[in-house]
Amino acid sequence: LDNGLMRTPPMGWMSWERFHCNIDCENDPKNCISENLFRGMADRLAEDGWKEMGYDHVMIDDCWSSMLRDKDGRLQPDPQRFPGGIAKLARYLHNRGLKLGIYGDLGTHTCGGYPGTTLDKIETDAQMFASWGVDFLKLDGCYSNEEEQQKGYPLMSKALNATGRPIGYSCSWPAYRGGLLPSVNYTLLGEICNLWRNYDDIQDSWDSVQEITDWFFDNQEILQPGRWNDPDMVCPLSPVYMDQSRSQMALWAIMAAPLIMSNNLRTLTLSLDHGLYTKFTVYSPFLCLYVTLFFLQKRSHIEVYWRPLSQSASALVFLSRRQDMPYHYHTSLAKLNYTAGSYKAYDVFTGKTLSGLSATTEFTVSIDPSGVVMWYSFPLSTTEWQCRQRSTT
Ligand code: DGJ
Repeated sequence: LDNGLMRTPPMGWMSWERFHCNIDCENDPKNCISENLFRGMADRLAEDGWKEMGYDHVMIDDCWSSMLRDKDGRLQPDPQRFPGGIAKLARYLHNRGLKLGIYGDLGTHTCGGYPGTTLDKIETDAQMFASWGVDFLKLDGCYSNEEEQQKGYPLMSKALNATGRPIGYSCSWPAYRGGLLPSVNYTLLGEICNLWRNYDDIQDSWDSVQEITDWFFDNQEILQPGRWNDPDMVCPLSPVYMDQSRSQMALWAIMAAPLIMSNNLRTLTLSLDHGLYTKFTVYSPFLCLYVTLFFLQKRSHIEVYWRPLSQSASALVFLSRRQDMPYHYHTSLAKLNYTAGSYKAYDVFTGKTLSGLSATTEFTVSIDPSGVVMWYSFPLSTTEWQCRQRSTT
């Protein structure tokens, strides 16, 4: 969508995976879907250094609204859980340099059973979101049919544009149409949405991460500035599952996926988790080129993925699907289709640089079970790699 927004994959925090539709504020005041939850997460993003890493959106998912529209037919937040209203919450975020995302559903009801946005309500809801100062909308697709989606998703795009407020737009449309051509028109999606969910919801499990990964590698469609496939939230379970958490981050990174965390930022062990997530400012070079990701090798349950980057750099992910022990994988850059020459490699997770690699040098990487090793590699002649910021140039 050419609205000037999200030229690089959006980053931020979203409530769904970790907090779902927990509305029990009486018994679980800290974790229920309420303005306190979103303000609390905003504080963490702003004060713990996440914002500087690019995590600048706080996104409300389902179950924020009242069960009824107001007397003028407008959506309203649940008065007990959002007593200050959405506009005030948006101001709270904006004052901290953050952006507010909200959730709607094209259909009679949201998946959680709250009022949905039927075709006749699209303009009203777009206006309401804009008047509250919302910066992003995730439009889900429960309780609507193919015809309504065909009309509704483009209509909402127009309606958001007509508000005059720049609002990033995520369409769940493809996820409701099986995610594949020809049922999904990715050209049209690219024109009307900034990103889209293509596939199933992520769950807090390694199986889910692997299943989503496989689907996206098998079915790469559009990947361009302002047009992003969204494999869903990143929800690392550290420290116990540090390897799997790293794997998810590395895989989402090499897919140039939106990085939308769904976790409890209040209870993360910052030293560990910053270590995990900060790689993704380093990872920003992925955003430099919008090209297909290549699958290079599969041997002994180790898979090697490669994405070319700008200035002849490239990214490599060695993923272990094993469950036994760290595996020593022997290969060379030449075996990974690199052209002859000298290279250096930066190991994203250890921070070490390997110099003096010629294409034919045999090397060994040790990959933990369900873990990754991730490298950026450069021709030795690269003196300075400029595409380090979140930029599309
Ligand atoms: C289905 C979506 O795919 C999820 O991400 C979440 O938004 C839920 N609906 C909310 O009900």
